[in-house]
Amino acid sequence: MSIHPFEKAAYLLQRDYLVAIPTETVYGLAANAFSDQAVAKIYSLKNRPIFNPLIIHCSGLEMAQSLANFNEHALKLAQAFWPGPLTLILPKKEQAPVSKLATAGLQTIALRIPAHPIALKILGLANIPLAAPSANPSETISPTTAYHVEKSFKTSKELSLIIDGGPCLVGLESTIIDLSEESPKLLRPGKITQEDLIPFIGEFFNNSLEAEVIKAPGQLKRHYAPSLPLELNVQQVNEKQALLAFGPSPLLGAKKTLNLSVSANLIEAAANLFSMLHELDNTEFKSIAVMPIPQYGVGIAINDRLSRAASS
Ligand code: TXA
Ligand code: MG
Repeated sequence: MSIHPFEKAAYLLQRDYLVAIPTETVYGLAANAFSDQAVAKIYSLKNRPIFNPLIIHCSGLEMAQSLANFNEHALKLAQAFWPGPLTLILPKKEQAPVSKLATAGLQTIALRIPAHPIALKILGLANIPLAAPSANPSETISPTTAYHVEKSFKTSKELSLIIDGGPCLVGLESTIIDLSEESPKLLRPGKITQEDLIPFIGEFFNNSLEAEVIKAPGQLKRHYAPSLPLELNVQQVNEKQALLAFGPSPLLGAKKTLNLSVSANLIEAAANLFSMLHELDNTEFKSIAVMPIPQYGVGIAINDRLSRAASS
C-alpha cells in the first residue's frame, strides 16, 4: 500500500523535514514552526538573512489564537478574509512555543490561514503550525508552479518533497497588515487591497513603506529580482529585449512578448506576473521591458513587486 503524498508531507513536516507546498498566493517552503532545527533549514536552503522573520501558517483560527493575541480588528479581519491571502502581524503569546528563529526574536508574529485545499489538508494532517516563506532562493522571483520550485532547488537534498498543486491562482504574496500597534499599517500590498480592508477597521494607514524597512526587514528594497535588468513603464522596445506587455495594444518590436493580460485585467496580470518573469528571464535577451501597469487595485501590489525587482 502506498502512502498518499499529503500524508507523506504531513509525516515529514512533523519530523522537521522541509516540504514545498502550494498555496493560493505562491508556493511555500514549509517547516514545523515549533522546531528551531526545522526552521533553520529554511534559512539555510533559501540563503535568507536570519533577521527576516517568517509567516506562520495555521490550519484554523483556533490554532492561530493559540499563538497570538487577537484584538477586535484582528478578529474582524480573520473572520472576513481567512482562509485567504492576508497575513496579520499580531502580538505573540509569550508562552507560544514557536521557534524564535521563525519570528527573528520579535515580540510579534506573522500569521495566515492559506486558502488552498492542499495546504489546508496538509496543515490539518500535520496539526502543527508551519513556517513558510516563498519557496525560492532569497532575492529571486517567487515560485507560482511546482516546476519553479523544482528548478531552483533540484540539486538540494534539504528539500524532501515538493507537492504539485498546479499554478497558484493569486500569484502574488499575501497582503501583510501590522495590527500589533495602535494604528494598523499596511506592510506589503497584495490582492487584498486597502479599500478591501478599510470597511473592517476604519480609516487607518499612515503608510510609510520605507519606514517599515526597519520593522519588516523582509521588505528590503531589492527583492523578487530576475537576473536580467528590468525596465519599467516603457514606451518603446527593441529587438534585443523581451517585453512584458499589458493590455490590448502591446508595443511592437521586441524579440519576444508575453502579455500579462490582453483584456487589461489586473487580477489576471497578478496571477501571470511571476511565471512570465520566470519565462522571460533568459540570456537570449538583454533586458526585460515592462509596459505601464495602472496604479490602482491589485495594480498597486504588481507595481510594488516590479519596482523591487527593478531596483539594484
Ligand atoms: O503569500 C505569502 O505570504 C507567502 C506564502 C508562502 O504564504 N509567504 C511569503 O513569505 O511571502 P515571505 O517569507 O516571503 O514573506 C514574509 C514577510 C517578510 O517580508 C517578513 O519580513 C514579514 O513577512 N514578517 C514576518 N514576520 C513579521 C513580523 N513579526 N513583523 C513584521 N514583518 C514580518
Ligand atoms: Mg519571499
